[in-house]
Amino acid sequence: MCGIVGYIGTKREAYPILIKGLKRLEYRGYDSSGVALINSDKSLSVYKAKGKVSELEAYCADKNIDGTVGIAHTRWATHGEPSSTNAHPHYSESKNLAIIHNGIIENYAEIKKNLIDKGLKFQSETDTEVLVQLIEYIQTKKDLDLLTAVQVALHQVIGAYAIAILDKRHPDTLIAARKQSPLVIGIGDGEFFVGSDASPIIEFTDQVVYLEDGNIAVMKLGEELKVVSILNEELSLNVKTVDMNLGEIEKGGYPHFMLKEIFEQPNCLINCMRGRINIDSDRVTLSAIIDNRDKLLLAKRIVIVACGTSWHAGLIGKQLLETFCRIPVEVEYASEFRYRNPVVTKDDVMIALSQSGETADTLAAIELAKENGAFIYGICNAIGSSIPRATHTGTYIHVGPEIGVASTKAFTGQVTVLTMLALTLADARGTIKHSDYVKVVKELTVIPEKIKEVLKVNEQVADLARTFTYAQNFLYLGRGYSFPVALEGALKLKEISYIHAEGYPAAEMKHGPIALIDSDMPVVVIATHNGMYEKVRSNIQEIKARNGRVIAIVSKGDTSIAKIADSVIELPDTLECLEPLLATIPLQLLAYHVAVCKGKDVDQPRNLAKSVTVE
Ligand code: AGP
Ligand code: GLU
Repeated sequence: MCGIVGYIGTKREAYPILIKGLKRLEYRGYDSSGVALINSDKSLSVYKAKGKVSELEAYCADKNIDGTVGIAHTRWATHGEPSSTNAHPHYSESKNLAIIHNGIIENYAEIKKNLIDKGLKFQSETDTEVLVQLIEYIQTKKDLDLLTAVQVALHQVIGAYAIAILDKRHPDTLIAARKQSPLVIGIGDGEFFVGSDASPIIEFTDQVVYLEDGNIAVMKLGEELKVVSILNEELSLNVKTVDMNLGEIEKGGYPHFMLKEIFEQPNCLINCMRGRINIDSDRVTLSAIIDNRDKLLLAKRIVIVACGTSWHAGLIGKQLLETFCRIPVEVEYASEFRYRNPVVTKDDVMIALSQSGETADTLAAIELAKENGAFIYGICNAIGSSIPRATHTGTYIHVGPEIGVASTKAFTGQVTVLTMLALTLADARGTIKHSDYVKVVKELTVIPEKIKEVLKVNEQVADLARTFTYAQNFLYLGRGYSFPVALEGALKLKEISYIHAEGYPAAEMKHGPIALIDSDMPVVVIATHNGMYEKVRSNIQEIKARNGRVIAIVSKGDTSIAKIADSVIELPDTLECLEPLLATIPLQLLAYHVAVCKGKDVDQPRNLAKSVTVE
């Protein structure tokens, strides 16, 4: 989950690069942070602080921060509470080594016990400190160089890691390794950078190597980057050019990344469809389908795996794929799928949905399905991340880096790709009438304009939000395509405002949740002309009969629901299957404004992290 940054060079000071990098990666984890520097006097200094990176900066204000080599970390605690002691980097016993780590060392307790029996002392409660102590113990006991000691130690470790490690006796070398957690190495002119993703690196170089599982990078000044396996086989370098610009990872005048990302959605979807939809011929072309036609067309079943918001997009994908392609589709939480001994065969296609492309459970679900012969199709945002590399094929959503922890533009990007996928497969399978295909394609291309229109409700939603900050609970209701939108609206609200919220299929309300309704309970209902309008209107009557406060998302010009609901937010008309792309926008805005009114940290909500690289 956490963010890792590293720098080794001779011409630049490491500290400013590391701090700026931590700020760019802060969305990945932000309960504490720290930095280790090899100072110009050859000492190895470690500074750590609880809280945000700004706390670390304040702490370092009067410290020695010179030096051109260093590593830094922003933590999302798994073992041990967030505190300056548990923050990374961790020293080894002799203080010659310092390590930063993203992931979990699962067998840390056993290793720690052995090391304590041998007389070692531990400062923190983390699993990470165990690893650096183990490395040093091996290094000293067997008189090994750092690389070999790291290799031997990693052999003994069970779990997930991205690590970077410094040895003050060898200030010209920085070593980094990965298994399951992401790590990117940037190659500059006589200097190297390390990052959990490319965002701390792109300001300095666009030449990067994405480490694969089991890879160890040795960055030695005056030498080329060397990548070796745990068994010390030298591996060939796969240097890539990153295509990310600084504007994409900055706020651009918005008060929060989340608001910027909500407002970016029209452009994001244009980028997502670019080169894939030809408006002259009304045709969708996805290269991943052309290249794997048989595998996809012969699928007997599709299994979608994902977590959180991506799982909600998956539920919409199920409706799209079943409606248009007539293939049975199951949508599974990746975390459940991977542990329940699921039936998977070579006739299955798995679609793995993930914004970050790093979610540990989704990756594990992919591996399991691959072992059973399924064909894996990835739909991800982060270019070069682990999931696209683990899948057989896939489609990037191309919505640009998403920094706000609450996912917004990735959701609409995923739904757009799922729509294009369903249309392409349905066309190839002959399960959609050409006129329907053309109708959906044409409408999809005007969705960005319609989202722009929906975004005009921003002020109205901001006013509405002010009246709901008192609420302890919220209900979100929708049917058909709007049910996953209700789930997503509820998730957004609880993530950033800490108000308890539940999404339900509207008709399920009377099977239980209706008991919660009283005059304090706000209920958001998606009640557009599409779908089961009359039935949803009856559900609204049932809520009003119990004095609930209804915020209805309605079709433009609807006067009937306006008479019974407390507030209405209007949406332009669209096709039912594309409505999630519009209906989700006011719900994102509602969550955003309620959280802002409550003074919450919108972009970095408590306890969450952007990229969930632990299970
Ligand atoms: C969404 O707002 C979340 N913070 C979270 O549920 C997220 O969607 C989930 O962790 C999955 O992430 P992924 O798409 O990067 O795999
Ligand atoms: N497991 C480590 C810890 O709790 C690393 C957590 C992280 O990835 O931030 O310190």
